Amino acid sequence: MIVAANWKLNKSPAEARQFFKDFKAQWTQKNHKVVIFPSAFAMEACSTELKGSEISFGAQNIFSESKGAFTGENSAQVLKELGGSYVLIGHSERRALFGEKHEMLAQKVKHVQELGLTPLFCIGETLAEREAGKTHSVLVEQIKQGLKGVNPQAPLVVAYEPVWAIGTGKVATSEQVAETHTWVNEILCDYGFKGVAILYGGSVKAESAAELGRQPFVAGFLVGGASLEVNSFLGILSQAPS
Ligand code: PGA
Repeated sequence: MIVAANWKLNKSPAEARQFFKDFKAQWTQKNHKVVIFPSAFAMEACSTELKGSEISFGAQNIFSESKGAFTGENSAQVLKELGGSYVLIGHSERRALFGEKHEMLAQKVKHVQELGLTPLFCIGETLAEREAGKTHSVLVEQIKQGLKGVNPQAPLVVAYEPVWAIGTGKVATSEQVAETHTWVNEILCDYGFKGVAILYGGSVKAESAAELGRQPFVAGFLVGGASLEVNSFLGILSQAPS
């Protein structure tokens, strides 16, 4: 499985270095692919600490151009030079708090793929949308618009993260995950994206990882809160089915 850590706006470079020191000393099983998404200021620390290791890393956000007059943005080209290989695109916090729209997300996905990096494209419905029976149509729209013009042959990973499960401690049930991941896979196939790894995200913990990981079309996890401590992250890695 792919088990990815979304650190969000947490950890200084020194804290990131300490995490890797402790994590590398305790992570022995190595039966999953680990990807770390630090905040931008801790990226160089990740690059240095993870050089030559099996742990991959990436950015939580980039701009759709690699250089120029784009104050405050981050460059996927620089991420690549630092040795990063993934970029989170369309996380619900980017959509809700920073107003990122489908069209912008599609440009980012294409830019990242052109550089040979892998986008980890996030989708998911809000509680109101789920309760109104709109989950399927929301996911169709997010995939159709957010991946518009994207080459189906280029590397892509998708994370299904119900917004109501992110950071709330309310993990989706295995039935909800099974049904929704099956839909996501079908929708991706309808738009030409076949065999895409689909991760689940939203309050994943060691206690839920085994059960969730056994559901159809669950190829791994995107973990927020529980990825910040070495022990809880290792717990998820040890429980996730091989
Ligand atoms: P959480 O975050 O595990 O804290 O719910 C997941 C995410 O936002 O990717």
